Amino acid sequence: MNVLQTHIGALKLERPGIVASGIMDETGDSMARMFGLGAGAAVTKSIGSERREGHRNPSFIEIPYGYVNAMGLPNPGIEGFEEEMRTAAKAGTVIGSIFGSSAKEFSELAVRMEAYGASAVELNLSCPHAKGYGIEMGTDTNTVRSIVSSVKDSVKIPVYAKLTPNTHLLTEIGKAVQDAGGDGIVAINTLKAMVIAPEVAMPVLSNKFGGLSGPAVKPVGVRAIYDLRASLDIPLIGVGGICGWRDAAEYIMAGASAFQVGSALGKDINVFKKINSGLERFMKEFGYSSIKKMVGAAHE
Ligand SMILES: Cc1cc2nc3c(=O)[nH]c(=O)nc-3n(C[C@H](O)[C@H](O)[C@H](O)COP(=O)(O)O)c2cc1C
Repeated sequence: MNVLQTHIGALKLERPGIVASGIMDETGDSMARMFGLGAGAAVTKSIGSERREGHRNPSFIEIPYGYVNAMGLPNPGIEGFEEEMRTAAKAGTVIGSIFGSSAKEFSELAVRMEAYGASAVELNLSCPHAKGYGIEMGTDTNTVRSIVSSVKDSVKIPVYAKLTPNTHLLTEIGKAVQDAGGDGIVAINTLKAMVIAPEVAMPVLSNKFGGLSGPAVKPVGVRAIYDLRASLDIPLIGVGGICGWRDAAEYIMAGASAFQVGSALGKDINVFKKINSGLERFMKEFGYSSIKKMVGAAHE
């Protein structure tokens, strides 16, 4: 029996680790490669209606315990992404990440992702560094409710909403997702952040601010999942700072049925394999016969 199998609502995964949006997922081949390296699924880079260049360099900087990026949602546009999606969907379970500026735009993108073979869509309601998108919409409960319900009316595949930690309203926004019929919540996206170079008295990133990811954000993500689990009844996917099996186990015990890994892939392409074997060892030693039995264990 495969103890690592998990369900995010109706979506079954043979392994609980998913490639997070924006890392190793720009092409069909890179996602296919990650399936071979132990990922149970992959979320695509966030895709919009039109091609976008993103912010100019510097758009990414490593700091102690993390990274700050302001990529600015560069992407080829939904039409330009069709072939990559079809290639990835042939190789494994692909979750199409989309961003838009209205409920209508999100719905149109979701319909295309479904047609291209996505097993689910992830609504990026949480990018901290693209004006007019992301957290500017994802921190308003009415906007979130209307986007999720419009996308739910447009596609048959599961609809997940990716939320931002840059708010004190996380559980209220989560409730809006649940009330609108969303099939899952992904938490967290990056934390709004800034790095300044004192020598030139200027912010380092061309966009001035960006999003913090990596080990520094893990306790924030674990707390977010714990809070959502305590107040809602909807499948959760944990993301933020996962580098090894202990981090993944923390998210699962906080309430996540699956987890995503982003930044850590930049340092270790084999991270999913290591997490899978570490989790299996831990589950055997501590008597957990399935991921389901571990989900939310820290609440009991
Ligand atoms: C370089 C980079 C690009 C990212 N691009 C996206 C994106 O396009 N859409 C999105 O929803 N999240 C994006 N993220 C956020 C990640 O998916 C993830 O939520 C965040 O980095 C926390 O996880 P981590 O600490 O494992 O990286 C990006 C993160 C990084 C570092």
